[in-house]
Amino acid sequence: MQEENMQSTVQTSNLGNYEEARKQFSWEEVERHFTWYANGKVNMAHEAIDRHVDEGRGNKTALIYSDASRRETFTFEELKLLSNRFGNVLRQHGIGKGDRVFIFMPRSPELYVALLGILKTGAIAGPLFEAFMETAVKDRLEDSGAVALITTPQLLGRVSREELPELKQIIVVGEVHSGEDLISYDDEMRSASDELEPEWLDREDGLLIHYTSGSTGKPKGVYHVQNAMIQHYYTGKMVLDLREDDIYWCTADPGWVTGTSYGIFAPWLNGVTNVVRGGRFSPQDWYSTIERENVSVWYSAPTAFRMLMGAGEQVHEQFRLDSLRHVLSVGEPLNPEVVRWGWKAYGHRIHDTWWMTETGAQLICNYPEMDIKPGSMGKPLPGIEAAIVDDHGQEVPPNHMGNLAIRTPWPSMMRTIWNNPSKYEEYFRLPGWYVSGDSAYMDEDGYFWFQGRIDDVINSSGERIGPFEVESKLIEHPAVAEAGVIGKPDSTRGEIIKAFIALREGYEATDELKEEIYRFVKEGLSAHAAPREIEFKDKLPKTRSGKIMRRVLKAWELDLPAGDLSTIED
Ligand code: PRX
Repeated sequence: MQEENMQSTVQTSNLGNYEEARKQFSWEEVERHFTWYANGKVNMAHEAIDRHVDEGRGNKTALIYSDASRRETFTFEELKLLSNRFGNVLRQHGIGKGDRVFIFMPRSPELYVALLGILKTGAIAGPLFEAFMETAVKDRLEDSGAVALITTPQLLGRVSREELPELKQIIVVGEVHSGEDLISYDDEMRSASDELEPEWLDREDGLLIHYTSGSTGKPKGVYHVQNAMIQHYYTGKMVLDLREDDIYWCTADPGWVTGTSYGIFAPWLNGVTNVVRGGRFSPQDWYSTIERENVSVWYSAPTAFRMLMGAGEQVHEQFRLDSLRHVLSVGEPLNPEVVRWGWKAYGHRIHDTWWMTETGAQLICNYPEMDIKPGSMGKPLPGIEAAIVDDHGQEVPPNHMGNLAIRTPWPSMMRTIWNNPSKYEEYFRLPGWYVSGDSAYMDEDGYFWFQGRIDDVINSSGERIGPFEVESKLIEHPAVAEAGVIGKPDSTRGEIIKAFIALREGYEATDELKEEIYRFVKEGLSAHAAPREIEFKDKLPKTRSGKIMRRVLKAWELDLPAGDLSTIED
């Protein structure tokens, strides 16, 4: 394979196909695939699982779950019956349509069964990442008004039940001691019936709430509806290129949107065998998963690819990776050198895809038949109109930077921010456009190139972190008077979190204190939100109204001009 083949020119034949595909495309054609197109009765879990049983694919393997201690496979039929059982467990406890039911546990078959069971009752599922600590869990359960939670004995201690009056039921997967006012998953699953009529919903009824971060305020509950399945199904076909015999592996946890849209819905709506690997990342573990399961389509993220690249050739050369047919990435900028390396290491170009929690599914992508320009996110899908606009909503010429914006609507777009409609409105401040908060440019061939965030949101290892949430935790520490948090460029993680801290009187700026503050955030919020770097300052730059100017902190850090300082306090 020659480097020259990765040239940045576009073959017009592909562009021609692309334009043709865009012209011919209609979302309604995609909708016709679903039974509800005819009868109006929809339920995601039915479409993703039960439908395959009804159509004679019940014996096909739907899920291959493995971790260091177990490996189990489940057919579509088995998942149908198990999720029916769990749906019945929930119904027996009075849970039904529109209730918010959260899941807080590590990846396991039970997590996937629970999520499908929740959806069958018509309740709205809220998956939480297992690394969340007490404050992070409480904020999310409180804001959503969750009435039930599925968790494990190990994580139960992070659920401050006294502070969550609306949380009526806690279902525990694992050992439960009598008298604890907890529901045992195992006991109730054993006695529940495996027959269930799913709750038939309208396409605009709720599906999921995913919490994500903005630059101000607490995490936002991004609310998605059943209708999103149109785009999950379609992008699964078009972008993931899923085919009947594929073994597909998405490495994301369902606590993040990639782990639901593309770790659950897209593969199962397409009836494909889905691999889930529990436990922590290591190059050996991941490559042996591909080898053992014969993974053919693999969806992961730049930080992981950079770590795999860093592990060196001697690692991937020990494994048989020739089952791979298609490799994709999402979540952060994918460096051109990683695309080139992936081509050498795996014989496949890594296909970048761009989207957000709010968009519910992929919007700008490199799809299989397209020429890749390494470093570009690709082009808008047929059915999606993307543009670079100025702050008044006017499109800017090619190669000019501006706001990456999407013409509304599209099937999987969020329908609101839970409990916070005004936050939702902010995304649509330019009439007719959804404003992503990313800055980018489009080149003369219609490829989009990511430039950065317009706001202060941090992207570390593909995880989106709001500086406000971290700052709020930091100032709970007795030594911290003021804190400002920024993303600092990092060659592996994209960005790391750096905190600037002004200490209270009487505290000394020591390395031990840095370590203690780091642990305080890690144990209170989560490891990925804890600042890997801390710098003590006598004073932080603030506006006259008292707002910490992260822009100035960033300029200090990167040795850049600080820009307009007219609002600074002194
Ligand atoms: O800044 C963009 C970045 O991740 C943000 C969305 O984060 P989140 O909602 O957590 O969703 C991640 C998974 C869909 C975007 O606003 N981002 C996402 N994909 C890319 C990206 N940045 C550069 N290139 C991408 N392909």
